[in-house]
Amino acid sequence: MVRPYAVKGKKRKKREDKYDREEEEEEVEEQEAAKGASIAKPTKEAEGKEEEEDEAGTDDLVGIPIAPSDKKTNKTGVIFVLEKASLEVAKVGKSFQLLNSDDHANFLRKNNKNPADFRPDITHQALLAILDSPVNKAGRLLAVYVRTEKGVLFEVKPHVRIPRTYKRFSGIMLQLLQKLNITAVGKREKLLQVIKNPITKYFPVNSRKIGFSYSSEKLVKMSKYVDAVGDDVNLVFVVGAMAHGRIETEYTDDFIAISGYPLSAAMCIARITEALADKWNIL
Ligand SMILES: C[S@@+](CC[C@H](N)C(=O)[O-])C[C@H]1O[C@@H](n2cnc3c(N)ncnc32)[C@H](O)[C@@H]1O
Repeated sequence: MVRPYAVKGKKRKKREDKYDREEEEEEVEEQEAAKGASIAKPTKEAEGKEEEEDEAGTDDLVGIPIAPSDKKTNKTGVIFVLEKASLEVAKVGKSFQLLNSDDHANFLRKNNKNPADFRPDITHQALLAILDSPVNKAGRLLAVYVRTEKGVLFEVKPHVRIPRTYKRFSGIMLQLLQKLNITAVGKREKLLQVIKNPITKYFPVNSRKIGFSYSSEKLVKMSKYVDAVGDDVNLVFVVGAMAHGRIETEYTDDFIAISGYPLSAAMCIARITEALADKWNIL
């Protein structure tokens, strides 16, 4: 759960975020989540107070453990990296907003930017595809990292529940990029957290890093590809989360195409997770 804090100087208004509420309540919540973005950093004192309130009151967590028993095993797993994610914050009018091609086309054109390049929805869909996958539910997702077009790197914990609607996702990303982390209600655990580059320092030693691009000359069948990898190897899959261009990663061991057609990042991830589910016998 995200912790909202009031704009500096104003008294903090207590509110509860509930990301898994029914549809009819979502609109109000979306506005609230977006509001929670232009927010002053909490003081230590405020943090303590919030902790008390949270523990006394609510069990509405953004992140809930999905498969705790599987997570205790020492099996190898998969890490996803979303590269070149289009997640850029700017002050539009009086407030800071996550730029997107639908809502900020005029603003972007006025600033000599191409609106088509501003597609945070690609990251949103890609994250949902990863986190919703049976591979994650079975506890084999080790980590998710997102690196923005500007090089800001953040980690998303596998058990986080990313908002399913774009507006709320946008509010969370804005909050993350301003506050640098997002914690669960009543917990100190950072569910989303900006971390230092380079990304390679977070990979396990025994990991194979594979980049994805439609333009790669090495076209493979994903299921055969993952089957050929030994069970003692962790897999790191690097997928682009931008609208145009291709990922440039100096750290990958291989660079493959998995279809003769250009896929969305979410479709590409669905193919990867399905192949892994088959390999690991996850139904
Ligand atoms: C929205 S696409 C990016 C579009 C970009 N024009 C491209 O083709 O790379 C998102 C990502 O999905 C992956 N992808 C798309 N089609 C693919 C394919 N046929 N094989 C492998 N990866 C693919 C790439 O990592 C790509 O960066």
